[in-house]
Amino acid sequence: MAATAILLLLLAAVSPCDGGATKYTVGESDGWTIGPNYDTWSQQYNFTAGDTLAFNYVPVLHDVYQVIQDAFRTCQPAVGQTVRMWASGSDVVDLAAPGDYYFLCNAPGHCFGGMKFSVSVAVSVATPPLTEFAQGRMHQ
Ligand SMILES: *[C@@H]1O[C@H](CO)[C@@H](O)[C@H](O)[C@H]1NC(C)=O
Repeated sequence: MAATAILLLLLAAVSPCDGGATKYTVGESDGWTIGPNYDTWSQQYNFTAGDTLAFNYVPVLHDVYQVIQDAFRTCQPAVGQTVRMWASGSDVVDLAAPGDYYFLCNAPGHCFGGMKFSVSVAVSVATPPLTEFAQGRMHQ
């Protein structure tokens, strides 16, 4: 009995949650570089809160900046217009909250060269609204 319980626990732990977080690899096998059309790439998917983006690139050549919309338009983040940045070459970026996210490579000319895209992250449907839970408990 105990062994069965442990097995079930293990299975539950390794099974991917239905409708849970998805990891998207930016540019698929091309990675994050000059050349691919990242608008086309990002438009293939509907992102929801909790998903992650994996950026793979040569760290000497590129980086990843999450910026505000103004900086996304100009391709030149000014002081205070960068939300987060990464430069390891193998970065996993969490899209924890719903909203619009703007990404670009801040190496000179690369954003103008096409290394930019935005994603609209929707509320995760997998998470039941908290109010329903709270109300259900109160009426029990
Ligand atoms: C994204 O959402 C739209 C609108 O709900 C839907 O038509 C489309 O099939 C979805 N795309 C994917 C890849 O799930």
